[in-house]
Amino acid sequence: MAVSHRVWCTISLPALRSNLRAIRRSCPRGTHILAVVKDNAYGHGLIPVARTLAQAGCEEFGVACAAEGEELRGAGIRNPILLLGSTLPSEFSVALQHRLTITLSSMIEAHELARTARQSRKTALVQVKLDTGMNRLGARLPEFQKLVSFVAHHPHLDLIGTFTHLACADSDLAFTRRQLVQTSVLPKFLAHHWANTAAILHDLPFPKTHVRPGLGLYGINPLPRSRIKLQPVLSWKSKILLVRQVSQGETISYGATYRARQAMKVATVATGYAHGLPRSLSNQGHALVHGNLCPVLGRVTMDMTLLDVSQVPQSKRGDEVVWLGRSGKREHTATDMAREAGTIPWEIFTRLSPNLPRIIS
Ligand SMILES: Cc1ncc(COP(=O)(O)O)c(C=O)c1O
Repeated sequence: MAVSHRVWCTISLPALRSNLRAIRRSCPRGTHILAVVKDNAYGHGLIPVARTLAQAGCEEFGVACAAEGEELRGAGIRNPILLLGSTLPSEFSVALQHRLTITLSSMIEAHELARTARQSRKTALVQVKLDTGMNRLGARLPEFQKLVSFVAHHPHLDLIGTFTHLACADSDLAFTRRQLVQTSVLPKFLAHHWANTAAILHDLPFPKTHVRPGLGLYGINPLPRSRIKLQPVLSWKSKILLVRQVSQGETISYGATYRARQAMKVATVATGYAHGLPRSLSNQGHALVHGNLCPVLGRVTMDMTLLDVSQVPQSKRGDEVVWLGRSGKREHTATDMAREAGTIPWEIFTRLSPNLPRIIS
């Protein structure tokens, strides 16, 4: 690690490979893993993550938009890439040029794409999405069937699969089962898929063609427990800038929202909301210092945050602070931080500033 870093992430490629193997073991033989690497691989770094997964045998990738697909192609990734979002007409030419698979949810999109593909004398790869209750993307019946038939018969469109997305696989199995009933209309002779990490770990029924894990690959289990062992891929660290004694009755940080009940030792840490630390961790969050869980005191500020290090008498300027990851015998995970911040681990990862160094280990 370069000594100049004051806040940084480390990305463990062995952990990523181990999670891929664990997920693969929990799927039937031959199932393609379509790794969801959208939004900068959930903040972990698109290219190193996708390259590692591709080298480890991951068959396909899912990204948010054509620009991410183009980035993967530029990095030499030749595997099929599904654009999970809706592609705008201004993005079609990039998608066609790089053989990116476009998700269609409506006849409007289908007509737009067919026109562009015909004009450019190319064939667009297409997956048609069914809406089974998420109401975000996907066509409902009967538009779904109309779409499938339109794409299947169009000379410039190549239908390679269909899919849907589960809204509550980690929280409401009854809702999920109602969604699964509707998947009977997905044509079985094509690729068809719906299993995100929670569906895979729940052992919910899913087709053998593809699964679409995201969070699990990054080592976070969205369920309270499961038989699969996953390892967090990302650690997030920083440094103590200063340590000071604060007397009883003094207040800490903007808004003076924390008042010391007794004399305490306070560390000023070089991390704030500009780096992606949720401001909602003010007076709520924790970080590890020398293996001790230390509470956040007062408001998180733009690039500095205060920690109570009274229980860590040896802590000093320059010491390491672990926001996510291991320190001594303790671990602080994205799930822990999400609980403290009132959010979800997906958001903790994706709001990490892209400017933070990601050190590959
Ligand atoms: C369409 C789609 N499929 C799969 C996933 C992966 O979900 P998870 O991270 O829960 O495994 C996502 C993530 O948001 C998604 O949007």
